This record gives sequence, C-alpha cells and structure tokens, in this order.
Amino acid sequence: MIVDVAALRFLLGERHPKVALVLGSGLGLVVDELEDARRIPYAEIEGFPESTVSGHGGAVVLGRLGGVEVLILSGRVHYYEAGKADAMRPVLEAIQGLGIERLVLTNAAGSLREDMPPGSVMLIEDHINFSGAHPLIGEPSDARFVGMTEAYDGAMRAALLGAAERLGEPLHRGVYMWFSGPSFETPAEIRMARGFGADAVGMSTVPEVILARFLGLRVAAASVITNYGAGMTGAELSHQETKDMAPKGGARLARLLAAALPEMDR
Ligand code: HPA
Repeated sequence: MIVDVAALRFLLGERHPKVALVLGSGLGLVVDELEDARRIPYAEIEGFPESTVSGHGGAVVLGRLGGVEVLILSGRVHYYEAGKADAMRPVLEAIQGLGIERLVLTNAAGSLREDMPPGSVMLIEDHINFSGAHPLIGEPSDARFVGMTEAYDGAMRAALLGAAERLGEPLHRGVYMWFSGPSFETPAEIRMARGFGADAVGMSTVPEVILARFLGLRVAAASVITNYGAGMTGAELSHQETKDMAPKGGARLARLLAAALPEMDR
C-alpha cells in the first residue's frame, strides 16, 4: 500500500514539520509535552498501517517540541505482527514524500549492562541485525545495497549528547541488537548478545533505520530501558513490565528530545 502524500499534505494543513519522531512501547507520554498538538488517527490516513500492540497509539500527532515543528508517529508496526520486515515502509516513504529529512526513532529495550538499569536512556550508536530478516529483501534496484557505516547521524547524535550534558541527564551510548520477538529472549540468547558486543536488545527500530537510510533520511535513535535482559536477574519478563516501566525513562527522553531538537538542524 502506498500513502497518497498529497492527501496527507492536505491533512497537515498549515503545519510543516521538520522532524519525524517514532514513539516506542509505552512512550506515548512524549505527546503530552507537545505545544499546539493536533492528532490525526492513522485510520484517517489511507495506507497507514494499524499497530496491534497494546501500549502503542495509532495516530500522527503534530506539534512543537522544544520549539521545533515535529510529526510524531505514535505507534509503530513491528516485524512480529505480520512477518513483514518492511511494515513501516509506507510510513517512512510518506515522511520522505513530505520533505521531512530527519527521523528520530525511540523504543523500549532490555539492558545487557549492569550499569544501565531500568529507567535509563541509551543513545543508539550502532546496531546488530542477527534476525535473518531484512526490510529490503525483494527490492529490485541497486539502491538496496545501503551503506550502514554511518547509519546513525553524527550531528543528530551530537545534539542529543549535548542536550544531556546541558541538562545534567545521564545518557548512555551503545549498540542495539534486533531480535524478531514477539517472545522475549532466552538467557542463552542474552549471553550471546553480550558476547557479540550488544548493550541493549529489542524488537523494533533496526528495520526502520535500514529503510530510512535507503530513503535518504538522516536518523537518530534512542532506547528507554525497561528491564534487564532475560536471565540477568531472577525475574520473568513481560509486556506489562515494558508498559509500566517505559514512562519512567520516557519522561527523561522527552526532556532530552525537547532540548536536542533545536540543535539537530545542522
Ligand atoms: N527484549 C526485547 N525487547 C524488549 C525488551 C527485552 O528485554 N524489553 C523491552 N523490549
């Protein structure tokens, strides 16, 4: 399905967002920080996919964060929902079609580091795709051979790190490893991920980063840590815990974003 960009442009009216922001599980509270918010349910935008995951909204929200016009995608579609690694492609193509050049992705993730407890925020500096899935399989053009050496934009990362420094907010930096889900990892998989050099694990973001780079968008991404990886504590993992814990780091993430967005335009 293709999104009619002209129809979407019409729905936005006078708004001309500069940055698109995808919100992860339980991070809908970032929307509460918007000035002049206007909500357009996905159902009103032909071609936008509906998320089936509780804790994910289903709307585009326009507004200003830190004085910058943003288009928030509140709710994403995951690979594990229908086995489609390119589930977010129509949305990202629409973002590109609107002329938005920057994309900030957020997610809830499990920590692989004892010094990064639940409630922490981690700036993603690189990722590992060991899932076997890829959003560009079947893409016919040579553009599918996307360079991933600098997938996470240096200037956008610097803006987030600078904001953290100014606010005195801790901001971890690390490697995010994508697992397909929807089950959580096993303790053995978590030990493997640690051995591979990952700092956090999650079920999203990586296919979106690949698609965004394919489309020429500049990307930054951050994880809100909701739990330690499986087997690191005695506790069993659950989606309820993700939803309960995400708002704790989510408030910190919202402050970081509001301070970083004005600096990202470089
Ligand atoms: N694993 C995968 N995805 C997650 C986790 C996790 O531990 N926590 C939140 N999302």
